[in-house]
Amino acid sequence: MALNLLFQTDTSPYLIDTDLIRSRVTRLMDNLFIENHHVSIVFMDDRDIASYNNRYRKRKGPTNVLSFPTGDYRGSTPEITNQKELGDILISIETADREAKIDNKSLNYRLTELLIHGLLHLLGYDHEQSEDEAQQMGDKEKELFNKLNHSGREKMVQLAINVDHVATIREARGITEPDPVLAAGICELAGAAGIVVHLREDRRHIQDRDVRLLRQTVKTKLNLEMATSKEIIDIALEVKPDMVTLVPEKRKELTTEGGLNVTTNKKKVLQTIKKMNKAGIPVSLFIDPDAKQIKTAKDVGATFVELHTGRYCDAESEEDRDREFTMIEESAEIAFNTGLRVNAGHGLDYLTTSRIAALETIEELSIGHAIITRSVFVGLDQAVREMMALIKPPLQGH
Ligand code: PXP
Repeated sequence: MALNLLFQTDTSPYLIDTDLIRSRVTRLMDNLFIENHHVSIVFMDDRDIASYNNRYRKRKGPTNVLSFPTGDYRGSTPEITNQKELGDILISIETADREAKIDNKSLNYRLTELLIHGLLHLLGYDHEQSEDEAQQMGDKEKELFNKLNHSGREKMVQLAINVDHVATIREARGITEPDPVLAAGICELAGAAGIVVHLREDRRHIQDRDVRLLRQTVKTKLNLEMATSKEIIDIALEVKPDMVTLVPEKRKELTTEGGLNVTTNKKKVLQTIKKMNKAGIPVSLFIDPDAKQIKTAKDVGATFVELHTGRYCDAESEEDRDREFTMIEESAEIAFNTGLRVNAGHGLDYLTTSRIAALETIEELSIGHAIITRSVFVGLDQAVREMMALIKPPLQGH
């Protein structure tokens, strides 16, 4: 297969991820059984696409996508016509970007929709011919999109709840209430798919007793966040949570700051993963959305990565947020394609979660602070249910 991506305009103002687009078009062509064919995709601005639109379709103004098939494939498969050159797809990044913003989708998501549309036109589908053909084309678009999604996770994204801050309130008083173990039960009854606690070396919130009791009471899945310190590793090996997440830990930080640097801590992480895996405990590495960290995570034998969403959540402008989102989107896809299972978390709240939940390669979100703080006002059961409602199946969103 030859896929030419050509750029007739400066793409630097746009959050376009060419590797992601290339990998999606390759998968689409596989799904359409046209992997041995040539397609050229030309990205341009509104002015250029308007001139093609005017010259070849006698229409005024720009459009989002135009397809120019090399042959007429209507009614026959490309194999039968034996035509290897399928044609060109022209896309206006300017229009695609505008449409993405209106629908609150990422540019890469909108481009994927347009590429599916353009590819089907190259194969002879034409929604302008009749209602039946429009229906057929629409169905095929949905089918292809679903297939792309289905090469992602199989189920709706899961919500795992971090109950550390229930323990923070308890420790502030130095007594036994509120109990994070009881909180975990309420979260599970409200629909959480997992409970997360971070047993820090300084025991500032979660205590050993909590972890041991949670091991006995959690019905869904207990995920123990921890540093690679010997004392905590020994506790994990004894308690046997359903999984552990390795995080960096600094005494002075208020919460986990950056992701774990797997590259500089490779030896220690590798040894910890070996010990955990020997005890049957899968390991997740909490990392920044970064291709090098993902590759090292794979090399050291992690089962999961948890992508740090903090910078996305803390972004101060929409532009920065979009950029951080794109890095998470791309990293999730890279990690997924290397065979890692992908979770995400940190800083997610009632405004920032649904966009991340719509990424089809992400399996589980780990959320604590936003849910526990909201529960002070609306109750824990409702706070969990409200978050669950924001986590919709893929294809609804971005
Ligand atoms: N994931 C990891 C690895 C964390 O350390 C934390 C914070 O404890 C979270 C997720 C949850 O972050 P937040 O409390 O901001 O939702």
